Amino acid sequence: MRVEFTDIHLIEGTMTNHHEEQHLTNALWKIYRRPERPLPWAKNNGNLPWNDPDFSARMLREHLDQSHGAASRTDPERAAQLDWLWQKLALQSGSTVYDLTCGPGLYAVPLAQRGCQVTGVDFGPASVRYARELAAQKSVSASCEIIEQDICDADYAGADFDAALFLYGQLAVFPREEAQQLLKNVADALGENGRLVIELLNQERVDTKNSTWWYTDDTGLWGDAPFLHLGERFWNADEKRSTERFHILHLETGQLDEIILSDQTYAIEEMTAMLKTAGFSTVTAYKAWDGLPVYDAEEWVVYVAEKARG
Ligand SMILES: C[S@@+](CC[C@H](N)C(=O)[O-])C[C@H]1O[C@@H](n2cnc3c(N)ncnc32)[C@H](O)[C@@H]1O
Repeated sequence: MRVEFTDIHLIEGTMTNHHEEQHLTNALWKIYRRPERPLPWAKNNGNLPWNDPDFSARMLREHLDQSHGAASRTDPERAAQLDWLWQKLALQSGSTVYDLTCGPGLYAVPLAQRGCQVTGVDFGPASVRYARELAAQKSVSASCEIIEQDICDADYAGADFDAALFLYGQLAVFPREEAQQLLKNVADALGENGRLVIELLNQERVDTKNSTWWYTDDTGLWGDAPFLHLGERFWNADEKRSTERFHILHLETGQLDEIILSDQTYAIEEMTAMLKTAGFSTVTAYKAWDGLPVYDAEEWVVYVAEKARG
């Protein structure tokens, strides 16, 4: 049989479509057969795939997007926060600052511009690259070191930082025991009277309903080709913890991503006790960002913790 070039194309096209359709079918069955409730921290430690290079590049767009403050706060919001942090952390030119989960350096670089010596740690490759470029652009590379690392592996015990930042709720994705260890690591990295500002969801305000939702798009956090997002949210009333499960179905390939995102919430009393166990002597909790004009301020509690003298 003589097969024309165009015929081969057609045959291949049909096969490819069939292949992708099979992937889509398999993915739908996988979703159908999913466990009723996801186990918290079951996948990727219950965290978003921040350190995946493609996800990180897409997330960076969200960090820099000035139309919302969902990944990093917008420029005006951060300007207000930076003044507040400057005062609450008793910062001055020459202060040394440890910024955990520094993202694209939108706090680290301005603090370096104010004269601080900043060490930022984050494991999102695109954010880290951006933070370094921003530091270079603002001529503060020498005083703003950005380290690409998992904060769980960061060991700055004895570094004697004057202050630490742990902003935008990232501690919540760790189970309680790991969160306690991380707080101790931060306390150990601070010097005498070192201060930490940590931002966590206000337990009194979190959504405690189970829910499901879906949407479609062809660009966004999950990819830049048509995808279907299926979301489920589960609230564990005993543990005061939410676990979200996202199924992302990529329509052109049939690839299915499953993301499990766990968020541990804390009552102010519990977090205060954890900070004291970690080595902080005084803890002040500020609800709603102490009245700062931050779009979702009401959802947050900001703790300022100070280490015991000597
Ligand atoms: C919501 S963003 C906030 C970034 C920054 N603090 C801000 O407010 O602009 C959370 C950041 O935490 C980082 N992150 C999450 N888990 C991390 C981990 N285990 N180690 C290092 N960085 C982490 C992500 O890469 C991301 O940049």
